[in-house]
Amino acid sequence: MAQPRILILGAPGAGKGTQSANITDEFDVEHVTTGDALRSNKQMDISDMDTEYDTPGEYMDQGELVPDEVVNAIVDEALSQTDGFVLDGYPRNLEQAEELEGMTDLDVVLYLDVSEEELVHRLTGRRMDPETGEIYHVEYNPPEDPEVEDRLEQREDDTEETVRERLRVYRENTEPVVEYYDDQGTLERVDGEQAPDDVWESVKETIESTT
Ligand code: AP5
Repeated sequence: MAQPRILILGAPGAGKGTQSANITDEFDVEHVTTGDALRSNKQMDISDMDTEYDTPGEYMDQGELVPDEVVNAIVDEALSQTDGFVLDGYPRNLEQAEELEGMTDLDVVLYLDVSEEELVHRLTGRRMDPETGEIYHVEYNPPEDPEVEDRLEQREDDTEETVRERLRVYRENTEPVVEYYDDQGTLERVDGEQAPDDVWESVKETIESTT
């Protein structure tokens, strides 16, 4: 079987990164994530693109979307270098969804469904290991090794104020994308509020039954 082309949708904190890591291990596909790609290029000079700010980081730290021109180019380049993938963080508005249609076909469109208060709790408690990239949560998923615990870092946009703004931007721009795939009849809803292993069981079953 060809490697699957998977899109994972969900609000900030729904668990896209957590489940994408499981998907890449199980299905041997690339994790294409605009969030990580932009975090690695926060200081990139985009001033020649006639944008409001001069770097992606200025948009990200306020919880706003980075301009489409920048993000479309990142995704187009990444998808051209891979067969199977799990795409995470894109499309985030209808213009990006239309752009994606011209880049590739999709085998599965997953949507992780989680309530807003749970999202705020997950994001403000999230911590990352800068050495391995592993995602933890101070309450739901703390590291066992105290050495790892000591080096954990919080993402700059995971403060409560920025999280609320990211959720507002999500409702305004990205919920229409979820409806777009729902209207096409391709959206597979997964209850993202279960424990991480149970979410993974549902995600895995959905991919296996759809591809
Ligand atoms: P991005 O990095 O894509 O962030 P996001 O969409 O806000 O998503 P997150 O990474 O915050 O959450 P997640 O769903 O991956 O959750 P996770 O698995 O970590 O984007 C950041 C910024 O980049 C944007 O604001 C924007 O500025 C810019 N950007 C990116 N893409 C763009 C685009 N296409 N266009 C324009 N701008 C763009 O889980 C969260 C926490 O919950 C963790 O602590 C985890 O341990 C815990 N957790 C996970 N699952 C469970 C569970 N089932 N139960 C309990 N806890 C759980």
